[in-house]
Amino acid sequence: MTDIPSPAPPLPVRIAGTGSYVPERVMSNAELEKIVDTSDDWITSRTGIKERRIARANEFTSHMAAKAGQRALEQAEIDPADVDLIIVATITPDTLTPATACYVQQHLGCLKSVAFDVSAACSGFLYALELARHSIGAGAFRNALIIGAEKLSSFVNWSDRNTCVLFGDGAGAAVITPSLNGGGRVLSSQLGTDGAQAELLNIPGGGSSCPITIENAPQQLATLAMQGREVFKHAVNAMKRASIEAISAAGLTSQDIKLLIPHQANLRIIDAIVERLEIAKEDVFINLHKYGNTSAAAVAIALDEAHREGRMERGDKILLVAFGAGLTWASAVIEW
Ligand code: UT7
Repeated sequence: MTDIPSPAPPLPVRIAGTGSYVPERVMSNAELEKIVDTSDDWITSRTGIKERRIARANEFTSHMAAKAGQRALEQAEIDPADVDLIIVATITPDTLTPATACYVQQHLGCLKSVAFDVSAACSGFLYALELARHSIGAGAFRNALIIGAEKLSSFVNWSDRNTCVLFGDGAGAAVITPSLNGGGRVLSSQLGTDGAQAELLNIPGGGSSCPITIENAPQQLATLAMQGREVFKHAVNAMKRASIEAISAAGLTSQDIKLLIPHQANLRIIDAIVERLEIAKEDVFINLHKYGNTSAAAVAIALDEAHREGRMERGDKILLVAFGAGLTWASAVIEW
């Protein structure tokens, strides 16, 4: 039997620019108190969320994605015409087909690019990072625009207090290029999936297994359904494991991490991971009080805000980690 040679590691890539966009409209916890049986006190103490952004009716996932993408391209000083790959991570696409990335290509004028979506829920942005890393590392593409974008307000049951208080809209983006010299180099990345737990967090209706009909329309099946407590436990364990794997694959220990940028779903989940990884609380970037859980956009928006707020200095090791429906999880270590 001939041994199959192991694949060559991808050539190094870097994050050359970041961008984000959130809609103007702020929905506070006080406003939600008027819609469902909840309270600012419950939402704040159980999740850490104070407010979230809600897109206008005529503002779609692709519009938010394009705005975040444009800001990332401006920062990277890359012309839209030179982008050859666009990957949009989303579970709230403009349409089931074509991909939201196709609309983004048009909005931005990246007319020479290949464009498609990935569906990995809250882990989607880091899945897109890994795809871009290997595609560029293998020499197939040169300038990738990866975007996490969600209009979750269109897929939330506004009469279900278990879920509607948690989510918000927004988009974050990064430009990935070959790493010639600059900072932002991706040192390691880990992905994981457990399809056996798919029922814990899903949008049960609107797909081929359960099309929306006149008869089932009142059940609002095309909205997010979640077994919160179960998802919570999986989130803590999977993000801890994924973090340790990415740190170790980069040849580092958690003491080397200067900033942790975790998925922004619940402050209690973040606290549990931070405690288990023994990372100092001040070394963790948190913005979920402003935006709630924006799924695939969350890590991407946080990365851009951390960057623009000067939280990362050249040479710092940054850990990104996410967890979501699927179940899926993902992590990456970046040398800024
Ligand atoms: O982004 C993808 C990954 N998603 C996550 O990581 C989310 C993971 N899960 C969570 O963050 C938490 O489980 C939730 C925030 C969703 C819920 O917090 P919890 O502490 O697990 O609450 P629970 O579901 O155990 O519910 C506790 C109580 C229940 O009442 P009873 O049965 O004890 O009387 C709920 O009905 O809180 C009640 N409750 C609420 N009360 C006021 C649930 N939602 C609300 C609400 N306002 N919005």
